[in-house]
Amino acid sequence: MNKTWWKEAVAYQIYPKSFYDSNNDGIGDIKGITMKLPYLSDLGVDVLWICPFYKSPMKDNGYDVADYYSIDPMFGTMEDMDELLEKSKEYNIKVLVDLVLNHSSSEHEWFQEAISDPNSPYRDYYIFKNSENEQIPTNWRSNFGGSVWEKAEDNNYYMHAFDKSQPDLNWENPKLRQEIYHMINYWLDKGISGFRIDAITFIKKNQTYPCLPSDWEDGLAGLQTVSLNQKGIGTFLKELKEKTYGRMDAMTVAEAPGVPYEQLEEYIGDDGYFSMIFDFSYADIDLNADGNWHSHKEWSIKDLKEAIFNSQLSIKKVGWGALYLENHDQPRSIDKYFKDKDCNKKELSFYLGSVLATMYFLLRGTPFIYQGEEIGMRNCPFSSIEEYDDVATKDQFERAICTGIKPEEALKIVYGRSRDNSRTPMQWSDEKNAGFTHGEPWLKVNPNYKETNVKNQINSENSLYKYYKKLIQLRKSSVYKDVIIYGDIKPILKDYDNIIAYTRELNGSAIIVITNFSGEEYKIPMEYKECIISNYINFDNHEFNKEIILRPYEAVVLAK
Ligand code: GLC
Ligand code: CA
Repeated sequence: MNKTWWKEAVAYQIYPKSFYDSNNDGIGDIKGITMKLPYLSDLGVDVLWICPFYKSPMKDNGYDVADYYSIDPMFGTMEDMDELLEKSKEYNIKVLVDLVLNHSSSEHEWFQEAISDPNSPYRDYYIFKNSENEQIPTNWRSNFGGSVWEKAEDNNYYMHAFDKSQPDLNWENPKLRQEIYHMINYWLDKGISGFRIDAITFIKKNQTYPCLPSDWEDGLAGLQTVSLNQKGIGTFLKELKEKTYGRMDAMTVAEAPGVPYEQLEEYIGDDGYFSMIFDFSYADIDLNADGNWHSHKEWSIKDLKEAIFNSQLSIKKVGWGALYLENHDQPRSIDKYFKDKDCNKKELSFYLGSVLATMYFLLRGTPFIYQGEEIGMRNCPFSSIEEYDDVATKDQFERAICTGIKPEEALKIVYGRSRDNSRTPMQWSDEKNAGFTHGEPWLKVNPNYKETNVKNQINSENSLYKYYKKLIQLRKSSVYKDVIIYGDIKPILKDYDNIIAYTRELNGSAIIVITNFSGEEYKIPMEYKECIISNYINFDNHEFNKEIILRPYEAVVLAK
């Protein structure tokens, strides 16, 4: 196993709009991130992934880029960015930026040229199709709902895999590809250490543009089969790497849905396109394959555990993984992974957060912490659709209404999965607006901020924040560092449906991780030397280290 810096890193994801507002206009900004470097450094993370901050009309909060070379004024200036890069070096923190390469904003000057002049050379930077009789060119459904086609003029339409304000770029055009590589090199030359690469498996489309058998009442069909990880995408991804980050020791983590495990080697093998990819198999355990709002799935902890180990065992054969519980597209993890009434008991919240943290943090891969996860931030109750901001939530709400669902019911459906659950402002303290801003926050602050906030947790002896800090130290600077980072992984205790457990082993050193995802107590035969970490204060040393009693939502890490 080759050692590299990014395998040893602990990453922290920042959604800049909601992290910290330095100038009290209600919007988080780059200076806000710089001001919080001491916090991040103290927590122990050493890589930041910063979500898009480029110039944008913010239809999809920056995932609609209008100029890849400039900073949106709401986030600050290029000087602020340079300052952040400078200061983060002082803290030994590396910075990854987000690359949105599948589409631009409809306000990008390329698209403005393309749409205003059909003969412009920029027309071919996008995907325009002609169609007869007022018919859309194909019946593909976009990721956010509705057709992927939007009318340009006459019988011409342009394609968008996401919102209509996010026209897809035409990767078949070599000129467009050169422009993209130039831009990526610009950011590398600025001194960033790598990238999170957005929705990258969408860049190749089935070139025959077939119509598909409809899969729902709207007559459309999900675009996954014709626009996700299509044959030939490898040529683009190989070139992308060669012309940009392939020339240095960068960390690249790709959002790459639709890659089957058999094909992982191409993506993350020794010569793979990326350092690692995000696997959605367990983050989306509650959704059906089409990812649609209306098709929630029943699942159990047993299913979750199978999905996790399936992923781990497939990845370890060929390469490296990215570990995560949350991101800016996912609900908060305590709300997602604990479905019964226990998840609303305040006295349990520390245990729920720490059992999840222990379970994922010590798997094989680079852990990512999403802002607020380390203090157990929760889904936010929104009382009307107007309170939401997220374009996907609004699209889905409208679709629900169109199919005859009543507004209250539709609100319930979007609530659990709305991306705004994880986008509410970071809860720094119990002051007004959770200490995020003295202005009017751009999105509702979760009303639970008086109890759940960074300040409380730093000051309390036994908080989730402190527990995350311990886990980070264990992974970065304890005697178990090597086994946690580079050790082999094997699932154990497979017959206990509510327990997720595994061993990590390297050169004779071994640890055992056991996490109880239920409110029941278990007595488990287990030989071990000592307890390394537990989320209960008094871990019981029973029966001469031959058995453990695992209490409700208990997590233990043992030395073997
Ligand atoms: C990715 C991003 C998401 C965005 C979408 C379109 O899935 O994580 O936030 O809406 O791509 O860019
Ligand atoms: Ca601001």
